[in-house]
Amino acid sequence: MPEKGQRTAVVTGGSRGIGRAICLALAMPDTHIYFNYFNPGDPEGEAEAAAETEKMVAQSKATASSQSVNVASEEEVNGFFDTIISETGRIDILVNNAGITRDSLLVRMKTKAWDDVIDVNLKGTFLCSRAAAKIMMKQREGRIINIASVVGVIGNPGQSNYVASKAAIIGLTKATAKELAPRGVTVNAVAPGFIETDMTAVLPQNVKDAFLAQVPLGRAGKPADVAASVAFLASESASYLTGQVIHVSGGMYI
Ligand code: NAI
Repeated sequence: MPEKGQRTAVVTGGSRGIGRAICLALAMPDTHIYFNYFNPGDPEGEAEAAAETEKMVAQSKATASSQSVNVASEEEVNGFFDTIISETGRIDILVNNAGITRDSLLVRMKTKAWDDVIDVNLKGTFLCSRAAAKIMMKQREGRIINIASVVGVIGNPGQSNYVASKAAIIGLTKATAKELAPRGVTVNAVAPGFIETDMTAVLPQNVKDAFLAQVPLGRAGKPADVAASVAFLASESASYLTGQVIHVSGGMYI
């Protein structure tokens, strides 16, 4: 449970990878971080990873609490945000980070693979943004940061569902930035390139090599590289920035 007066941040998909690094980058002493996770294939392993993130946050003298919440479920998302608001009365920062891939060439893509990716990546971002925006508008301040991807701008074969979801997140970012600006709420996106996480670890070596060949800085990024830009967008220094996309991709898109 957070203490009264603490800064409240919500991070989706905080158990591992980029989401965990974002929780750590936001972990300042006066902050409570709520994060969620969801993995029907390995619920216990995911809960263990989440407990590890909580421990790591506590080492930074912030506090964190987590639960399994599927961002694609309207009911689960609304319940998650109702609990947060009843405990804290406010949300200062929302980071929409949870995301999945179900890669396949267009002509072979199952409709379920399309729906799953759009539901988690895009609908999940919409559901969480809507829930957080209601309280942020009342507060007349707040930061929403959406994790897009460089491929949402440059495209990528074999990922039409994922690319469509990430391009749409950029559109959603721009529309909501204009809508919420009069209420003091900023909305920005971070578009990572090729980052070393579980999501990319499963890719075949030839696919990894093809990605790396497109990176002018010549190496994969780390989750902390992405988290640093998120922390900047959440900070006081970024108060005059809205509707922008920061590419953290080693120059993949210039
Ligand atoms: P990851 O696979 O390592 O972690 C995904 C996280 O999302 C986990 O915490 C998982 O529990 C959570 N999650 C998955 N489905 C969920 C659902 N339905 N509801 C709630 N939580 C769910 O992924 P990674 O690499 O850390 O990616 C994080 C974000 O960054 C994603 O949005 C991804 O698309 C994006 N990204 C990643 C890149 C990379 O190279 N790793 C590149 C560009 C964007």
